[in-house]
Amino acid sequence: MELDFTGESPLQYAGDAVVIGSHKGAPLTGVAGEVNAALDGLLDRLIECREITGKQSEVTVVHTGGKLPSSRVAVVGLGEIWGDPQFAIRRAAGAAARSLRNKGCRRVGMALHLQAPQSVRAEQVVRAVTEGAYTGLYRGEECKSESELPGELEALALLGIAPDENDSAVAAGRAGGIAGDAANYARRLVNLPPNEMTPSRLAQEATEIASATGLEAEILGPEEIDKLGMGAFAAVARGSDEPARLIVLRHRRSTQGPHVAYVGKGLTFDSGGLSLKPWDKMRNMKSDMAGGAAVLAAMRAVGEMQLDLDVIGVVPATENLPSGRAFRPDDVVKALNGKTIEIVSTDAEGRLLLADALAYAGQLGATHIVDVATLTGACIIALGHVACGVMGNDTAFVEAVLDASERAGERAWRLPLYPEYRSQLDSKVADVKNVGGRAAGAITAGWFLREFVGETAWVHIDIAGTSWSEKDEPHQIEGGTGAGTRTLIALAERLSGGGV
Ligand code: BES
Ligand code: MN
Ligand code: ZN
Repeated sequence: MELDFTGESPLQYAGDAVVIGSHKGAPLTGVAGEVNAALDGLLDRLIECREITGKQSEVTVVHTGGKLPSSRVAVVGLGEIWGDPQFAIRRAAGAAARSLRNKGCRRVGMALHLQAPQSVRAEQVVRAVTEGAYTGLYRGEECKSESELPGELEALALLGIAPDENDSAVAAGRAGGIAGDAANYARRLVNLPPNEMTPSRLAQEATEIASATGLEAEILGPEEIDKLGMGAFAAVARGSDEPARLIVLRHRRSTQGPHVAYVGKGLTFDSGGLSLKPWDKMRNMKSDMAGGAAVLAAMRAVGEMQLDLDVIGVVPATENLPSGRAFRPDDVVKALNGKTIEIVSTDAEGRLLLADALAYAGQLGATHIVDVATLTGACIIALGHVACGVMGNDTAFVEAVLDASERAGERAWRLPLYPEYRSQLDSKVADVKNVGGRAAGAITAGWFLREFVGETAWVHIDIAGTSWSEKDEPHQIEGGTGAGTRTLIALAERLSGGGV
């Protein structure tokens, strides 16, 4: 799909459709009012008889019958007047692009950014439109022999942006395209079935990202993982016949400034191990590498954007399966940083891989670490499927991550790592145990990770609730959501002094 910028207005653009927005209980104003007038008030009549309500992401398509150069107008709901303009516009752009593609449109002109209030920076809104449209268009047909959908859009045009006069808006739009594509890439990795998306396949993806974008890739196998002393990671990997991989991608830039490490949980399938999950909880556990997918996808975008920032991506990848070689409850294992861990449940495996990967990121010289993981069911109980949980040991860095998530339109909420929670992990036989009981399960998991980052500034993002969507929504289809990807990209842009 081509991303075009044109000074043309919705009254001038000749495509298959132009997209405008409408609010709940508000008249059509600005460009939407002009389109309505050109259609002799048709949209007002549809509002009157409640066919257009302005509900967030509702899409109504009308044919223009020659009254405009484009053959259709899509009116997409933006919800209440203005709650969160960027958020509303991002979702609306996704819903409209997806709906028009599904109706067979090929050339679509977007005007949503022209309707945003003055209070939001133009670049941010343009970015929201392209990010939203790209992620809305993701098809999720990796394993279908034939597509059930019409072909791709040929062109997405951002109206009212003359390319030679609006450098910053054009750059923002293109960055949104890169970020949206990256999120879709993460979704593809998550949606691929676990018999294909093995640890070796994930490593192969990393190698391909490296050669396409100029990153350095280093892939370690089981012997190297053992030899380094990653006893926690190795323990989880023991039960599987698929060899584990420690994936490292590097984007090398300035030696000054922060050295950032992104660490992602790469469980290509989590059965629970000997602490086997019941069948209904095991469903969709192919998505337990969603954190790893977000890290690889964000590294790809960092490479494509050529950001002036040192970033390392670290993804420990394995399956968690029961077998005669599997690690057991009661085992005691030793992590890379020398701490011993009593295994209470083999289903609390993510924190074990991450313990070693976080310590490794520290050894590689990271000054700032962010990990992204589908870590706990408890985080879903706390925040549902709406927001991810954020914890850390450095308030300023936590706030930087929360700010990046807000720019990315990925809802995130801080949970406290109060010292009182730490004692839930006290072990009689080892330095720490891998389960802290039912109470505050997302937080005790965060506390466990904290044991392995030392003094390095660190933030943990638990995406267990947000990485997978159980149903088709107007702005995104069922399955992997790419959660965390755009937050990591926005954070890297922010730390490199760029971004919107
Ligand atoms: N991968 C799961 C967490 C998860 C659950 C992600 C549901 C997405 C949806 C993780 O490895 C796990 O099994 N966690 C256990 C921890 C418990 C044994 C302390 C959990 O949350 O039940
Ligand atoms: Mn588990
Ligand atoms: Zn898991």
